[in-house]
This record gives sequence, structure tokens and C-alpha cells, in this order.
Amino acid sequence: MTDYLLAIDQGTTSSRAILFNRTGDRVVQAQEEFPQHFPNDGWVEHDPTDLWDSTLSVCRKVLDKAGVMASQVASIGITNQRETTLLWNIETGEPVYNAIVWQDRRTADYCKALEDKGFADIVHSKTGLLIDSYFSATKIRWVLQHSLLAQQLAAEGKLAFGTVDSYLIWCLTDGEVHKTDATNAARTMVFNIHDQCWDSELIQLFGIENIIFPQVMDSSDDFGLVNDRWLGAPIPINGVAGDQQAALVGQACFKPGMVKSTYGTGCFLILNTGDRPVVSKHKLLTTIGYRINGKVSYALEGSIFVAGATMQWLRDGLKLFEDASETKSLAEQSNYDNVYLVPAFTGLGAPYWDPDARGAIVGLTRDTGISDIVSAGLRSVCYQTKDLVDAMAKDGAEFNSLRIDGGMAVNDYMAQFLSDILEISVERPKITETTALGVAYLAALRIGWFNSLDDVTNLWLADRAFSPLMPAEKSQTLYSGWLDSVERVRTSD
Ligand code: G3P
Repeated sequence: MTDYLLAIDQGTTSSRAILFNRTGDRVVQAQEEFPQHFPNDGWVEHDPTDLWDSTLSVCRKVLDKAGVMASQVASIGITNQRETTLLWNIETGEPVYNAIVWQDRRTADYCKALEDKGFADIVHSKTGLLIDSYFSATKIRWVLQHSLLAQQLAAEGKLAFGTVDSYLIWCLTDGEVHKTDATNAARTMVFNIHDQCWDSELIQLFGIENIIFPQVMDSSDDFGLVNDRWLGAPIPINGVAGDQQAALVGQACFKPGMVKSTYGTGCFLILNTGDRPVVSKHKLLTTIGYRINGKVSYALEGSIFVAGATMQWLRDGLKLFEDASETKSLAEQSNYDNVYLVPAFTGLGAPYWDPDARGAIVGLTRDTGISDIVSAGLRSVCYQTKDLVDAMAKDGAEFNSLRIDGGMAVNDYMAQFLSDILEISVERPKITETTALGVAYLAALRIGWFNSLDDVTNLWLADRAFSPLMPAEKSQTLYSGWLDSVERVRTSD
């Protein structure tokens, strides 16, 4: 009897595997962090071997821990850090360069030059994206320009590109399958989100021809069989989605107007806009929420590059506390509202899109203590969310509640302050690992455990709802202090 689903969540700082049962309960989970490489200012890389080894290792660990055999697993779902770019030899699987991570800003100047030459409109109209080094296309170009091996393989027609999902699928299937799903493809800046195909004009624009792009599938589809030498049985892969879109599914945001915000390394606010790709006038991204049975549900996305990573920096860099669980009580001890931490470590994402901005702590006095800085760190995540919510409102999207998830969402101080600053209700589900859950649901749908997305909606359970407690006037004053602080670090309009 196959009673389990295995969700792989390959994230920016760790790889995780979670085993779910038929009712969506988490049975066992395993997690492994892997090294981050920062070879230059603004550069972020991962060793592809670390991504693969840690993924395989956590999969084996969960099966071991649960005492479950691979033959009892009905299907695998893969969700992943998006945009991160890998290029490898399609015959041997050998990567030609490290994975260039989504946070990496090395192509910012080239992106600016493209913008100056007037290419922003064509890129935006086809992909829904702004020209930015965040997305895969200019990272592919960089590798092609800097690796002789890449050039040689491209000339021989053997150079494969993929986001992390594709690379893991290639590894898990022993090179049998080179596929991705529409949500991941939508983050490359060369996928036409209206025609649902790789766009040859854009591929030419970025100078990345002669590369083998993965076949783009639905998010709930057939992605091949895991070679049985890895886990002990040939488990099918049936769900694939970028982590933020998987969270949209895990949060059961299936109706147009429903919105979720996931707090991982970064924070990503995604609004379901149904079968309509809404074009933002306020620097939000138009993207694919999910594609099921060939039908696309579009989404509007606000992307913040640094959320949980701020708390990681306060913990590991400044050593202000040892464990994230201490931050709630520390923040509650703060008596100062006017210390602001702007975590522009790798520039600012939406709605500013300023790759050259760098972080700052504003409002320090002789009295400022650890609790004030910790509270400013947690609050920075809420203020940035407010930036996105306001941009969405200007684009005509109004909502009166927000579903939150991800590691930081368990922090009650953060959730309450978020509700206060947004002046709307904030809902937290029972299961906050919604990325893994979402992709497990996508796999379940494909293998017939679920009949439709309604089954997912019926499983969504609230843990707690937070309502605004702060007087609106105070919340607005605090937010204008944030806007002033952001102005101090911005380098462009
Ligand atoms: O777009 C980047 C995003 O997918 C990374 O997610 O969870 O690692 O912050 P996360």
C-alpha cells in the first residue's frame, strides 16, 4: 500500500524533505543546511553537488526515521528556490559552474544597460518581469561568457540549463528527464507567460542560444521516475513548483483576490489573479501561480530579498541571540519604536528594485540596545510587506486578510505587528511549511488522491488569526518613519 507523499523543498539555505500521509499530516521531516559562497560583493553561489547531496541525504533520512520503504511512497513533489541558475553537460550531468543564486547581483550593470537601451517593455510584455539580475536569463549569459567549458558544450549542443528543480529531476532520474514546470519557467525571463513557451526572441536578446532548455510541464504532471538506486524504488515525481507558488497552493489561495505571504530567506507576497495576467504599474511582477491541466492561474507578486535572512544575520553575524525563538521576548522588551533596520544587504527588491542600495540601521541613540535592534529586524519584514501591499493596492488589488507562512510566521510578535502595520487581519495556518505541503498536494492531485483543488481547500486549517490592535494613527506614523529610512539607502528612483 502506498500511503505517503515525499515533498522535497530545496531552499536557499537548506534542503528539506517532509513525508506526508494521505490527510496532509506531516509524518517526519529532515533538514540539512549547506554552505553559501560569496566570492565577490553582491555575488552568491551554491555548489551544485551540495544541492544534490543534501537533497538525497534528507530524503533518505526521512524514510529511515519514519521506517517507511520507498515502495510505500506514492509520489514525490519538488519545490525549490526559484531563479537560481545551473548549467550542466546534458550527457554527464557535470555542472560547468556553481549555481548562481537568485540573490546574486553580478549582472546588475548589464541589466541596467538593457533597460537604458529600451528593452524593458518587450521583456515585461512577454514575461511579466522587470529586467533584473534576480532572474535566470542574465545569469545564464554570465556563465556562457566566463566559462570556456560552457562555450564548448554549447557549440556541441550539449549544454543544459535548468533551475534547481530541473537539475534535481535530472539527477534523480539519472539523466533520463530534463523538465521543469511553468511556475519555475516563468522566473527565467525567457519564458513567454502568455504563449507558455520559451521565447526565441528573448533567448536571442540575452545571447543564450544553443542551450538546451527543459521541457515545460504543468505543476501537477509526470516528471519521470526516480532511479531506484537512489531511494530503493522507482518513485514517480508528480508535483513541481517554485517554492513561493507551492506556498500559494499549500495556503489554498485558489480564488482570484486571495493572497499569501511566505517568510523564508526572503518574503514573497503573491496574489491570485485567476486566468487574467494583471499588469502592474507599480513594479510588481506578473507571474504564473500554477498551471494545472494546461490551465494557467496567474498571479501578481511582490518580492523582498531579505526577510528571515535579517534574523539570521542578527543571530550569526552580530550574535545578538542564539536561537530565533528568543526574538519574540527580546522584541517585546524594546521601548523604542523609532529604530529602523533597512536590510538591503543585496539591494532592494519590490517595489524599489535598487540593486546598489545597501543596508542601514537608522535612529540609534546611546540608549539603543539589543532588544531594539531585534525588534527593528522583525519589524523591517512587516514594513517591507506593507510596501508590497500598498503597491498592490495602487494596482487596484484590495484585500482585507493575508495568509502568512514560512519560518518567521510562527513568531507571534511579528504576526501581530504585521497585522497592526497592514491594518488588516493576518491568518496563520496550522501547518506553516506550506511550500512542501503545496507541492505534495500537486503530486497528490496528479496521482488521483485528490479530485480537484477543492480537496486542498477543505484541508486548510487556521491556527490563529491576528487582528489590528494598534491605533491607525500610530501605525501610519511608524510606517512613515520606515519610508524615510528607506529613502536614506536608495541610490535610484
Ligand atoms: O525567488 C526566490 C525564492 O524562491 C527563495 O525562497 O524560501 O529560499 O526565501 P526562500
